[in-house]
Amino acid sequence: MAPSPPPTQPPLRFVLCGSVDDGKSTLLGRLLYDCRQVFADQLRKVEEDSRRWGTQGDETDLALLVDGLRDEREQGITIDVAYRSFETPRRRFIVADAPGHEQYTRNMATGASNADLAVVLADARKGILPQTARHTRIAAMFGIRHMVLAVNKMDLVLWDRSTFEAISDGYRSMARDAGVEHLQILPVCSLTGENLTHRCASAEWYSGPTLLEHLETIDVESSIDRESFRMPVQYVNRPNPDFRGYSGRIAAGRVAVGDRVRVSPSGMETVVESIVVWRGTREQAERGDSVTLTLSSEVDVTRGDVIAEAFNPPGVTDHFQANLIWMNDRPLVVGRSYLLKIHSREVTATVTRIRYRLDVSQGNRLAGTTLRLNDLATVNISTNRPITYAPFDRYPGLGSFIMIDRTTHETAGAGVINFALKRASNIRWQDFHVTREARQELKLQRARCLWLTGLSASGKTTVANLLEKRLHSEGRHTYLLDGDNVRHGLNRDLGFTEADRVENIRRVAEVARLMVDAGLVVIVSFISPFQSERDFARGLFDPGDFREIFVDASLEVCAARDPKGLYAKAMRGEIGNFTGIDSPYEKPRHPDLRLDTEALAPEECVELILRRLL
Ligand code: ADX
Repeated sequence: MAPSPPPTQPPLRFVLCGSVDDGKSTLLGRLLYDCRQVFADQLRKVEEDSRRWGTQGDETDLALLVDGLRDEREQGITIDVAYRSFETPRRRFIVADAPGHEQYTRNMATGASNADLAVVLADARKGILPQTARHTRIAAMFGIRHMVLAVNKMDLVLWDRSTFEAISDGYRSMARDAGVEHLQILPVCSLTGENLTHRCASAEWYSGPTLLEHLETIDVESSIDRESFRMPVQYVNRPNPDFRGYSGRIAAGRVAVGDRVRVSPSGMETVVESIVVWRGTREQAERGDSVTLTLSSEVDVTRGDVIAEAFNPPGVTDHFQANLIWMNDRPLVVGRSYLLKIHSREVTATVTRIRYRLDVSQGNRLAGTTLRLNDLATVNISTNRPITYAPFDRYPGLGSFIMIDRTTHETAGAGVINFALKRASNIRWQDFHVTREARQELKLQRARCLWLTGLSASGKTTVANLLEKRLHSEGRHTYLLDGDNVRHGLNRDLGFTEADRVENIRRVAEVARLMVDAGLVVIVSFISPFQSERDFARGLFDPGDFREIFVDASLEVCAARDPKGLYAKAMRGEIGNFTGIDSPYEKPRHPDLRLDTEALAPEECVELILRRLL
């Protein structure tokens, strides 16, 4: 075979959606086969398998080709979305093959967030199924602007034009509502390849392109900014005191020695002094190149910063709207703190509001305070530090992120940023002259937060009370924040659902922080059943200023003590969400101190705290 001329278009990444019954595997197999991307030995095997297992009589069953590849890949377990690449003389293609079932929603979303275009399949005999609509909405939500509907198995409806048009009309209005901007609809038969790779004689009424022509010629780049220079810094390269460079892969645009650049989020500007590559230097580099940049002035650059062209820098925000898919068995709770990773930066993030959940089958917007596995939603997110970003549809590389559960370290969600919300620019930290140091000096003490966690009736209140008495008698300035008391005032609007407890702890942790800033020794006595929120609380303080004390007694002992009669009530089902009964308590994994109140008297517990932690 003569060598092909180089492709003239930039590669196209597309995701193929539809269930196996719609003929997805056959369609992909046909494309690969007709584009001669199937190797002779693979084909021979498929021909043999077709005879044994195929569904197409004596014809080669091309679906087996793709399904065979899938089997191979499923042994790899970690890869959920399979990527295949093939090439025609005009273009190279990268296909993400996303499984169709509901439990694979996250794969769909992952495939979509890496694609420029989606091909959605429908069966001409069945029309638009809830599944078809779901795929379209997920694809649109994850930034796909170009959609193709392939109405497949047209041979089985004898290439009937009115059938095709009825399906097209229904799909068009649904896709418009979902936010699809560019839509192409084709009647095809993947089994024979008609209107996939060659025209169909039985459907003269169709004058549009074949699927392959459409994919070869479509321009998906126009709305995406690949021109402006952006490089997320992956690491700071300091082999010796004389050299300081910033290494990363250029995500967009080009850069040359002498270019003026801005470092985000700090906003400092400087000039590129040199571009260092493997064994040498260069005058210029561009998208896809891995380089180390040195800068002409000493600016502060750390991992996760973005170096970009100075006159058109990316945005910086700590509060934004995003589309999010939840991928974890543990539901997302509004107000809970997660780790958020965007390019090379990791920050702490909280969903402050679920604007709506999307019912992907009907397209309805639903209210909600939590997200469960496979839920899709539009949410507001706030981060503890500013991040550099770009709206996902303008610039995918700086617009997508993942959320990580702080306790399990599992990837819990994935999302794309729509736009920044205004808060960051309007609120600034004010610096005052009287500092925490000055306040604690006046009180002759070091301010601290002693955080007591444990089951109801484990002994928190008794220990906290005795501890405060003791500190007070020694002349310390203290304050005791107790769950029952704070719930009478500041937190009187909160109950005992997971979301309410998260908010309960968030507020009391913030109050404790203010009190430590005021120079006090703060004792917090709350059940605080979740590790995530205790970790969040710890994160608010300087290292060493927060001490987590696990007040430990077994559930049986607590239930037997039952000073308020609450365990008895909970066990009779008179109160719900009771910690230890029908609401979980997560034991601290690394407390600064554990107090076994089954073995120790309250006075002994206080002695231990004083000796070990103060
Ligand atoms: S926390 O879980 O959100 O940290 P918090 O410490 O504020 O709880 O409040 C716990 C107190 O509320 C308990 O000591 C108990 O007196 C009371 N209470 C009432 N209902 C419940 C419940 N369902 N679960 C736990 N405590 C409850």
